[in-house]
Amino acid sequence: MTRLDGKVAVVTGAAGGLGRAGALLFAAAGARVVCVDVAEAGLAETVREIGASGGEALAVRTDVSRLGEVEAMVGAALAAYGRIDVLWNNAAVLNGLYSSAEEITEEEWNAALAVTLTGAFFCIKAVVPHMKERGGGAIINTASVAGLVAHRVGRAAYVAAKGGLIALTRQLSLELGPHNIRVNAIAPGAIRTGMTATVSRPDEPTFDVSRDEPVADAVRRAEPVEVARTALFLAGDDLGPMTGAILAHDGGLSVR
Ligand SMILES: NC(=O)c1ccc[n+]([C@@H]2O[C@H](COP(=O)([O-])OP(=O)(O)OC[C@H]3O[C@@H](n4cnc5c(N)ncnc54)[C@H](O)[C@@H]3O)[C@@H](O)[C@H]2O)c1
Repeated sequence: MTRLDGKVAVVTGAAGGLGRAGALLFAAAGARVVCVDVAEAGLAETVREIGASGGEALAVRTDVSRLGEVEAMVGAALAAYGRIDVLWNNAAVLNGLYSSAEEITEEEWNAALAVTLTGAFFCIKAVVPHMKERGGGAIINTASVAGLVAHRVGRAAYVAAKGGLIALTRQLSLELGPHNIRVNAIAPGAIRTGMTATVSRPDEPTFDVSRDEPVADAVRRAEPVEVARTALFLAGDDLGPMTGAILAHDGGLSVR
């Protein structure tokens, strides 16, 4: 397994689901973890679990859609640990779920883009000066199968945000490559988290997390830790120049 001994990792969306699984996994791999989210109770629980298993973590309540808060979070991380080696942009909101294009409200559209796409960009913008100064780093963005292939009706804002995140990953991999900062993305399919619990409805049985059934032919939902292992792989510094990759972890959903 990839080790992150001596490294510091910032994980956004760390109050639950995939982010919490990743924060725990990164800590188990030896990293000190800066856990970022707006959900304070969940953040505290993540930090408690890391501490209980012998790791070290810091909770920094941050709305990633606000640049000032993101800059303050990076400052707090550097003040506490002195370095940031890994940034995992994982926070997102899934809203306007069943709205058609003309029904999606201005607020829903703006919130999806502000957190999922702009929030990731703000975190990158805030850590890059430090990573350049240190001579490198690893940035991981949680995209989605929804950014790779067209999704079901009603997810236009989420899909646009994730598609934008994939384009941003590719673009910044070139811009930051000369600084030894690798930028890669994971594109999960369906993961067993609170997010998928909110998207179930009777006519979409394949996304009903209350039932353990395949999401597609011969495909099952991933456990959060299974996807988090992909992030840990991308966080390691033994991948040479690997950058700009979009790793689908979707049980094959995007190949059909
Ligand atoms: N669950 C799935 O099936 C699935 C599939 C593909 C991609 N993803 C992606 O995986 C990532 C993690 O999702 P999850 O399934 O663990 O869901 P989740 O809802 O548990 O995690 C998202 C986290 O983002 C946080 N967040 C929301 N707005 C924020 C803000 N403004 N600032 C900081 N944090 C904020 C939430 O509080 C939450 O803890 C997301 O990027 C999601 O789009 C999930």
